[in-house]
Amino acid sequence: MQTVEEIKQKIKALNAEYAKIKDIDPSERKAFGQELNKKRQELEKALQDAIDAAESESVEPLDVTAPAANNAEIPVIKQGSKHPLMTELNRILDIYVKMGFNVMEARQLDDEFHMFESLNFPEGHPARDGYDTFRTEEGFIPPAHTSTMQHRALKQYKKDLEKGGQIAVVIPGRVFRNEDVDATHEHTFYQCEGVFVSKDATMGQMLGVLKRLFEEYYGQSLKIKTQPGYFPFTEPSLELLIEKPKSLGGKGDGWLEMLGCGMIHPNVLKMAGIDPTKYKGFAWGGGIDRLAILKYGIDDIRYFESGKLDFLKEF
Ligand code: DAH
Repeated sequence: MQTVEEIKQKIKALNAEYAKIKDIDPSERKAFGQELNKKRQELEKALQDAIDAAESESVEPLDVTAPAANNAEIPVIKQGSKHPLMTELNRILDIYVKMGFNVMEARQLDDEFHMFESLNFPEGHPARDGYDTFRTEEGFIPPAHTSTMQHRALKQYKKDLEKGGQIAVVIPGRVFRNEDVDATHEHTFYQCEGVFVSKDATMGQMLGVLKRLFEEYYGQSLKIKTQPGYFPFTEPSLELLIEKPKSLGGKGDGWLEMLGCGMIHPNVLKMAGIDPTKYKGFAWGGGIDRLAILKYGIDDIRYFESGKLDFLKEF
């Protein structure tokens, strides 16, 4: 029997014959054309038969109910691996969960109210520009930070406060900024937000939580320090720095800016229906990509979203 390839070659040759029709005496064209069509039909049928035969030869019947060992020659499909950012994010969430935090998931499409108003950025506030925010044609916002979830977290867990407890929640999420992209800036990245509210929350508690987070994550004791920052949704606002961990080749003399944080602004609590004269809170938020980059010495943040298998396989 002819092979699929051989028949395909013949069909190709036959197709070339059709071009000759125009050079043939008009009285003979019809017969010539009919002859070609007949040959073509025969070849197409032969081709289908050859394809069917090839398939039935190559596919072994498979008993899907048999024990795995009976089907051992079935090729094992190579499994993928977890994306490094998800591995790091899970590590971070484990640390928070051990400290007693709930986890809430952020959205990938949000709105003007949660991006700005609920966070005490009134309309026209100049700090709005700092967030390089994308907008869809319908007016939705792919969130530029996970702080868009603060208002929802406060409202959802307010009942715990009323029962004499506290709000303790972390919110990981994907965020988007219309920035110029380079080795240290990506338009899409991950952040994790934290929100804590109680009758007497203090800045000291906040620094304790954050120090513990970084020490657990990098597996060593670390110094932290703060410097003044500005965010409309916290007062006072701080930036938290950690001593460059030894595991990253630090000698204890370098400082790394890790996240923004502060005491939740009374207006933010009020907007969520929490009385700021009775309750105090702190909040913080920072990038996950950056933590992972430092931990593994990755030299280009763009690898994470690139789908480059060579890079992803290293983890
Ligand atoms: N959302 C801020 C940013 O992406 C970071 C931040 C600062 C989050 C202070 C907070 C906070 O919760 O209290 O730049």
